[in-house]
Amino acid sequence: MTNTTKVGVFDSGVGGLTVLKELAQLLPHHSYVYFADTKHCPYGPKGPDEIIRLSEIITKFLLDQGCTIIVVACNTATAAAIDYLRANFPIPFVGMEPAVKPAALATKTKSIGVLATKGTFNGRLYRETTAKYAANINVSYQVGAGLVELVEQGKSQSKEASELLQTYIAPMLDEKIDHLVLGCTHYPFFIPVLKKILPEGVVIDNPAPAVAKQTARVLSEEAKEPHSGIGTEPSVTFYSSGEIDTLKFLVHEIELTTKVVFKNKSYQHFIF
Ligand code: DGL
Repeated sequence: MTNTTKVGVFDSGVGGLTVLKELAQLLPHHSYVYFADTKHCPYGPKGPDEIIRLSEIITKFLLDQGCTIIVVACNTATAAAIDYLRANFPIPFVGMEPAVKPAALATKTKSIGVLATKGTFNGRLYRETTAKYAANINVSYQVGAGLVELVEQGKSQSKEASELLQTYIAPMLDEKIDHLVLGCTHYPFFIPVLKKILPEGVVIDNPAPAVAKQTARVLSEEAKEPHSGIGTEPSVTFYSSGEIDTLKFLVHEIELTTKVVFKNKSYQHFIF
């Protein structure tokens, strides 16, 4: 009897690794199929129809791999496509949402900053969450143009990244933010750089751990019996639609710098 679920996780590129890391830590008995749509990255400037088309192809691919739940580990794809995916595929989807709610509830200065892609800011989720939870506080928002590309080039710790981030963060600091919401799954790779830029006391809000918890809740609702930890040996298969070296490099970095181990790793291409 097997009690291991195959969880599909996808992003426009390597950003979703910041979510996969939390999933593997919280739910180590499951297997994961991670898809990086490197060939079509970045999604941020693309229109919703194009993102829906790409997300649908990736979802069908993940279903073919035997996934029974999919984590859309990309804020931009969640904003554009999650309603469509939920309406058209008979499996549960867990999506990303910028952590505006926890930041808005916790801010003492009544001022928060949000860094995300254009696609995420244009989405219904961001508009609704901000209207609901942040109506009475100052929200300083900034499109992180160029940031995803730096992560994809393996340059998240570069001088170039630090300078670009400083440009984006400076106006927020003028607004006395005490929370910075990372509204794109690529951005947690900048946390070491951000910690140097942000004054002490500014909290960085990354929704990835909450998304892993939500996935655990959905899995336990779906499970007919509690997870026994027995079953087929867990594995993580990484797919890319393009270049695969940054993916390998960052997976290695995550394993080195955190206690997370991606069990039985393998890397493959799926080009479309
Ligand atoms: N990781 C994606 C997100 O969370 C990046 C979007 C992009 O490819 O521009 O939005």
